[in-house]
Amino acid sequence: MKLAQGILFTERQILQRVDELAKQIEKDYQGRELVLCAILKGSIPFLADLMRKIHGDVRLTLIEMKSMVDGKHASILFTSSVDLSGKHVLVVEDIVDTGITLDYLMKHLEAERGPTSLKVCAFLDKPEARKVEVPIHYRGFTVPDRFVVGYGLDWHERYRNLPYITWVEPE
Ligand code: IMP
Repeated sequence: MKLAQGILFTERQILQRVDELAKQIEKDYQGRELVLCAILKGSIPFLADLMRKIHGDVRLTLIEMKSMVDGKHASILFTSSVDLSGKHVLVVEDIVDTGITLDYLMKHLEAERGPTSLKVCAFLDKPEARKVEVPIHYRGFTVPDRFVVGYGLDWHERYRNLPYITWVEPE
């Protein structure tokens, strides 16, 4: 696979969209304590840009997940220790593809961590690849069914550092 020549979303478009999302989130959670629950590692640039634009009482917890290669299972590798019970929790995800990872996490958080509210902010949504329906309350962009990279998203750990979104394609 090689990096495509085209760009799906430029750095400027991304930052503008993140700004819009942050404003909406700030408005919706005004006067409430919000815990951002970010899924490592792909959401790091998105999280960093988003959280700095949300003014208010914002806390952060990190979760690392493994999406299984068979495309049927997910599991949690690491959870940081912020107490989520009785909190307004917003899951921050890089991309929702099949939906399996997010579905697993949402069920786990509901069942084990007792949040008062639980919503999802996904930077990218790839609806054509969906296998499990999951709610997306805040969405950055919708992407076609391609393997996209950049702005935290990787292909075999490469390209996370690109400031824009592009895709990989066969050589
Ligand atoms: P899921 O298929 O919705 O469970 O996606 C799980 C994870 O796979 C996402 O959080 C990403 O880390 C990764 N992933 C899915 N599609 C892409 C893609 O197009 N580019 C890079 N990573 C992806």
